[in-house]
Amino acid sequence: QASERESMYLVSEYARNYFQDILLNTQKGKAIGLSYFKERGFTDETIKKFELGYALDEWSAFTDTALKKGYKLEFLEKTGLTIVKRNQSDPNQTKTFDRFKGRVLFPIHSMSGRVLGFGGRILTTDKKAAKYLNSPESEIYHKSKVLYGIFNAKQSIAKKNNCYLVEGYTDVISFYQKGIHNVVASSGTALTSDQIRLVSRLTPNITVLFDGDAAGIRASIRGIDLILEQGMNVKVVTFPEGDDPDTFARKNSLDQIEEYLEVNAQDFIRFKVSLLMDEVKDDPVKKAGLIRDIVATISKIPNQIQREVYVQECAKIMDISERVLFSELAQLSKKEE
Ligand code: CTP
Ligand code: MN
Ligand code: MN
Ligand code: MN
Ligand code: MN
Repeated sequence: QASERESMYLVSEYARNYFQDILLNTQKGKAIGLSYFKERGFTDETIKKFELGYALDEWSAFTDTALKKGYKLEFLEKTGLTIVKRNQSDPNQTKTFDRFKGRVLFPIHSMSGRVLGFGGRILTTDKKAAKYLNSPESEIYHKSKVLYGIFNAKQSIAKKNNCYLVEGYTDVISFYQKGIHNVVASSGTALTSDQIRLVSRLTPNITVLFDGDAAGIRASIRGIDLILEQGMNVKVVTFPEGDDPDTFARKNSLDQIEEYLEVNAQDFIRFKVSLLMDEVKDDPVKKAGLIRDIVATISKIPNQIQREVYVQECAKIMDISERVLFSELAQLSKKEE
């Protein structure tokens, strides 16, 4: 329903303005939220560009204000901005709670700049609460279909004919602040084909930037086969152990970052083969498994010539005959028919 969705956008955009105002113009907002962002090295300009905000640490401060302004509880609830608890015996008796209370907020925008939802980061080191809390799935927010930062990045992605894909909100923001604007985040979830399609409207080239921890790399590799499937060219860059793009960007100049990205960008399939080969060592059973895995990856590439080039290269890296890889590839495509 169009009018329902529009009402949800409007209340989300009101919330964006409200939380931004709290951050920039109130005592508590400045002392808690703004100083947090400043400590992370974000400038005033960056904070405004990304429309960052802060939700007061009070049970219903935002909801009460929104209701007074005439926004309907129905849409506050449908966007997840407000959690409504209804009295069991009398459903008309309700209590309202601000979902993002006490968190700094990252609005999530559509390609055209509408506010779809929020990511909220906790400020304490309380281990019981999740570090990030996000808007729930709704009529306007489909987590698997958005890329954080796409609205600010789209022009630069088209112009540079490349898109950097990072994990988190702060990775996008730190890169942007340093002057690298063609960057978006999958927000910590496994990449989906809908997200890739957003990028493919702007460029066929993606460079995936991994956090510098082995577990993260292992987890992300699976998502990348999806990118190949859509005929995109994929490169990967890993960061030094313990760094993510945010911490790396803070420690280095724009020139240093650009140089690092250029020197360390590897073709994805080559990267995957080398990484997995390191683990296989001389175990023939594991090596056979790896061959099947790599062939499955290569089979995702829609272009036949490209597939053949990869077979030749991978055969060299894995020290096996091309014939073995080609026959494995043929078997796989037979199965899929
Ligand atoms: N994430 C999430 N919920 C969590 C943890 C992470 O939604 N409990 C998402 C967020 O979008 C986050 C991304 O996954 O930005 C990457 O997670 P992580 O690397 O742990 O966080 P950072 O982005 O590095 O955040 P920070 O630097 O603030 O710690
Ligand atoms: Mn929908
Ligand atoms: Mn991580
Ligand atoms: Mn991270
Ligand atoms: Mn980080």
